[in-house]
Amino acid sequence: MAQILVTGGLGFIGSHTVVELIQAGHEPIIVDNLSNSTASVLDGIEKISGKRPTFERVDLKVKAEVRDFFSRYTTLEGIIHFAAFKAVGESVQKPLEYYENNLGSLVYILQEMRDLQIDKLIFSSSCTVYGEADELPITENSPVKAAISPYGNTKQIGEEVIKDAIEAHGFNSISLRYFNPIGAHPSAEIGESPLGVPLNLVPYVTQTAAGVREQLAVFGDDYETRDGTNERDYIHVVDVAKAHVVALDRLLKGQNQGNYEVFNLGTGKGSTVLEVIQSFEKVSNSKLNYKIVERRHGDVTAAYADTTKANQVLGWKSEKTLDDAMVDAWRWEKKIRKIN
Ligand code: UFG
Repeated sequence: MAQILVTGGLGFIGSHTVVELIQAGHEPIIVDNLSNSTASVLDGIEKISGKRPTFERVDLKVKAEVRDFFSRYTTLEGIIHFAAFKAVGESVQKPLEYYENNLGSLVYILQEMRDLQIDKLIFSSSCTVYGEADELPITENSPVKAAISPYGNTKQIGEEVIKDAIEAHGFNSISLRYFNPIGAHPSAEIGESPLGVPLNLVPYVTQTAAGVREQLAVFGDDYETRDGTNERDYIHVVDVAKAHVVALDRLLKGQNQGNYEVFNLGTGKGSTVLEVIQSFEKVSNSKLNYKIVERRHGDVTAAYADTTKANQVLGWKSEKTLDDAMVDAWRWEKKIRKIN
């Protein structure tokens, strides 16, 4: 059992990872500033896992708060760093807030790691670092392309900051590049709760079906894909969460090959927007109200992972299907909207 700091541990991927950490016998300590989550997520975590993890409200972009936290938790063995702003469009409007929040917090954490000799870090990266990849599926060797948004840039720079810190201070770190995490815990005790109008496809689909939104807009059907809509690699959030436990155990056991490793987290299978809608309609046995509209600025045509490295080197493989994820996303939406 290891005591592990999970920043952003009340968020969508963070909360699912906390559950998996507890179930694997670890002791997660959650830090979150509640900027995009609520403390009630702890109830869901407790219902699933039988344990209520320690939670501290800390704003990681405030150096004094970071210092104070680490001065009180002296037996941490590793850190899983999720806490970050993640809205692509908002990052274009508020680039400085994105750089301050996403990179400031990372730098302060790395400084504490250096000073306290904590040497294990898992970082939330994104397939956005690959941009419009030249070859599909996307391997970890695919070049990192100029970022389309400040958000994407914070992930690219974050990886660079970690690499430089490793060179100087000898940490061990794994960056996990997520494709499109979706779904919810099968228990429907935790899930995704976007504030306001959802920007991502699946919460927009489930909110439309729940009557919270009028109609889903499908952003373009004139892409060069099998049905003209964008292709993405949608992966169940529980599979993503499990990968973090595997990556953490790899560092705890010293099985990493070199100080810095990168893994794609995807299923390896691309699905188009229309295929996602079809999956939803099938599992919910309903028709979704949608219409095709203009393309959304900044969307790449297609992105799906080559998962060979994660499968063979990390020893992790996604287990759940798109249909599984849609079942769980819909169960969660119905629960929070009190629909039978
Ligand atoms: N889409 C719609 N209608 C919507 C929302 C989305 O048609 O209302 C489409 C998008 O055009 C895209 C697909 O659904 O083709 C998926 O869109 P999401 O916004 O759910 O996901 P993205 O692939 O755009 O974004 C994800 C992550 C980002 C990350 C990005 C990298 O959410 O954090 O991948 O490409 F930066």
